[in-house]
Amino acid sequence: MRLDKFLCETLGATRKEATRIIKSGTVTVDGVKTKVTSVKVTDDSTVEWDGRELKFHGPRYIMLFKPDGYVCSHEDSTHPSALSLLDEVNLEKLHFAGRLDVDTTGLVLITDDGQWSHKITSPKRKCAKTYRVWLADPIGADYAEKLEAGIQLKSEKDLTMPAVMEIVDEEEHELLLTIHEGKYHQVKRMFAALGNKVEGLHRAQIGGLGLDYSLEPGEYRYLTEEEVEAVFGE
Ligand code: URA
Repeated sequence: MRLDKFLCETLGATRKEATRIIKSGTVTVDGVKTKVTSVKVTDDSTVEWDGRELKFHGPRYIMLFKPDGYVCSHEDSTHPSALSLLDEVNLEKLHFAGRLDVDTTGLVLITDDGQWSHKITSPKRKCAKTYRVWLADPIGADYAEKLEAGIQLKSEKDLTMPAVMEIVDEEEHELLLTIHEGKYHQVKRMFAALGNKVEGLHRAQIGGLGLDYSLEPGEYRYLTEEEVEAVFGE
């Protein structure tokens, strides 16, 4: 394959952009700088742009430790996109497999595999999500029972699906909540319906996949093949 075509395919660049990049002298093939767009590239070639190896890749499955202050959308007028934390090519091809609010931290999955993300977000699949929650007021003695029975949220027809609550620290009003759906601001609305207020929210787990706490807030990594499947486990 010609070098310019290789850049088009790995970077999602147009032929004109690929030509400009190559002519700028920032591309090497097997360690040798080249400005020739027609240079042949084989499966065994190592192509680098600005010191970064360009590769064909299959579907991407990414775990991000979302920090406070970032939105889970491509664009927003007031906050930066969580995608801006990724040092990846073709960002426009990626999407969020379930969103978090701007002030919620924790596990966000990002992919370009629409079938995979649909299985995570579809209400029919009832994929579990576990949140660490900090409440403004004490945890009510009846909360666990009420959350298990289902909560009537404002402007919703049906009760929420059974949720499991576990107290982490009574004095700090801290608990873990596992839900099996993902309505807009769901956790905040559930506790509002119970007369309390969520002051801090962090997603720790999706299905059988927990956040890797060796990542710092703002860092990300690719999922292993096992993890791509683990998300559908409990
Ligand atoms: N529920 C919320 O209220 N906010 C989130 O970010 C996630 C779940």
